[in-house]
Amino acid sequence: MHGKLIACDKSFHSIRMIKYTSRYALIVGTNLGSGYVVRRRSTASVSTVTDLFVATGQRNEKNNTKRRADTEVLMNEIHDREAGSDAHVMAFARMNYIHSRYRKACKILNEDMLHTLGSAVVDLFRSIEKYEWRQLTDVEKCAVGVFYRSMGEAMEIPFNLVPSGKAGFTDGIHFAQELCDFTVEYEKTAVKPTQSTFLISRRLMDLETANYPSILKPVVERIIATRLDEHIRVSMG
Ligand code: HEM
Repeated sequence: MHGKLIACDKSFHSIRMIKYTSRYALIVGTNLGSGYVVRRRSTASVSTVTDLFVATGQRNEKNNTKRRADTEVLMNEIHDREAGSDAHVMAFARMNYIHSRYRKACKILNEDMLHTLGSAVVDLFRSIEKYEWRQLTDVEKCAVGVFYRSMGEAMEIPFNLVPSGKAGFTDGIHFAQELCDFTVEYEKTAVKPTQSTFLISRRLMDLETANYPSILKPVVERIIATRLDEHIRVSMG
């Protein structure tokens, strides 16, 4: 796995800059820290995912904030470190190690891994369109596609669930398009309200509103809800 990562060329690094410029523009621009709930929509709306979080107790009231901090630290390492650097490789190795026993036991499904990866791309494209009032340029779309394809490969997520997964993708735009199509289609069957989606959504929402005074929390929650698609909002209760 290390070999694969080191093989990623330095364009991976410049691609990250494009992606992050867009994401921070979005978060700062909306002046609302709702990024976490929106980014973790797969964590909160797909019952095969939420069932596991409930079963492992990884999102209980006591460890909720620590889990968020751990996840953010690791994701920052993955996004911000230079491709192939020790810190970058170590972050992937740790994340893969954490998932490996669940994946081996089929408690984490490949389709949920792909959907989680795809959710990030769908949210990025939609957010730029909605809150920056513009479409991404083809170069940006391609950069996002190459970035997430490299990430998926480093996480050993099979791409055989998208049409060109076997034959190969012509470029980043092609990959991003097929990944987005898969993600949207998958949600039609996988996203549904259950006890576990409600519970995990509640935990994520608590994290998001933790720094607001109680009187403002319901308002902030409603604002966050407006940033979610209808079916995701329903499954999150
Ligand atoms: C692209 C897809 C995904 C990414 C980038 C990702 C990222 C992460 C990261 C960074 C952590 C570490 C947090 C920590 O240090 O505690 C983590 C932990 C975890 N993830 Fe994922 N994840 C993905 C998909 C999934 C899916 C689909 C599931 C399905 C249920 C899942 C279940 C878990 C669980 C249960 C843990 C905690 C494991 C433990 O500490 O024992 N992840 N994930």
